[in-house]
Amino acid sequence: MIYFKDGKFLEEDEVHVSVNDRGYAFGDGVYEVIKIYDGALYTAQEHLERLIESAEKIRMAMPYTIEELGEIIQKLQTENEITMGHIYLQVTRGVAPRVHQFPESIQPVVVGYAVENERPMHYLQQGAAMKSVEDVRWLRCDIKSLNLLGNVMAKQEAFDHGCQEALFVRNGLVREGSSSNVFGIKDGVLYTHPANNFILNGITRRVVLQLAKNLNIPVEEKEFTLPQALEMDEFFYTSTNAEITPAVTIDQQPIGQGVPGPLTRKLQVAFDAQIPMLVASGNVEERESNGPAS
Ligand code: PDD
Repeated sequence: MIYFKDGKFLEEDEVHVSVNDRGYAFGDGVYEVIKIYDGALYTAQEHLERLIESAEKIRMAMPYTIEELGEIIQKLQTENEITMGHIYLQVTRGVAPRVHQFPESIQPVVVGYAVENERPMHYLQQGAAMKSVEDVRWLRCDIKSLNLLGNVMAKQEAFDHGCQEALFVRNGLVREGSSSNVFGIKDGVLYTHPANNFILNGITRRVVLQLAKNLNIPVEEKEFTLPQALEMDEFFYTSTNAEITPAVTIDQQPIGQGVPGPLTRKLQVAFDAQIPMLVASGNVEERESNGPAS
């Protein structure tokens, strides 16, 4: 596997990161996960734009332009011949003796690599289980920061209870998943949390909102409570890797009929259809025959 670090493409054993890297010491950095479908990068521009925004929000100068970052991730895909998987790209503030404030004239460290993985077809078709967890993260969840301890703890709590994803609840309001955004459907209306500091504005979230618009599904970007979530007709979570995963239970309580609902199915089909690489490879057909649209 070929890795990228600071301008070079290297074999794994040639990539070295300092113990004084501020990403290691403080989680002082930002990252992105970019999907590869059938050998092509998906929504790469949007991910790179968000990476640059995240860097700006933590007052970190990006060492590469968006075009250069695009070339780096493209090369990671090609060199590693990844057909299905993702690119992981992270930028830390750099290497310096450990002091909390930003050290002077520090250079950001950029690391990228590719991962081969399959689409989570089982959960896309059958649905997944969620567990509500108190959201104790900081108040800048809009930044895709390397500080993921709150997310890691929540995901583990969900796993400990036999669930696949945690549902963050702060001040009684449903926010997002531990590594995803969440949506509920009630009486034909699609509800999701507004894009503010309490959630990461997911790229998949944005795609879903556009698909809902195309399908004339009314959308309300507004907060709802955990009891309201439990009363939804349908519920799902979205991310680069989870795509549109139906949530069939929350805290062991079935949502709607306890199976993926018709509007969720419709959005899943529309999601596949807007990925040209999937359409070209016939992957969409496979999905539709396995899980009918309605
Ligand atoms: N996680 N919210 C949080 C807290 C996330 O960590 C993620 C993604 C999302 C969804 O964002 P997107 O649709 O752009 O992937 C929402 C990534 C994939 C991760 O940490 O692995």
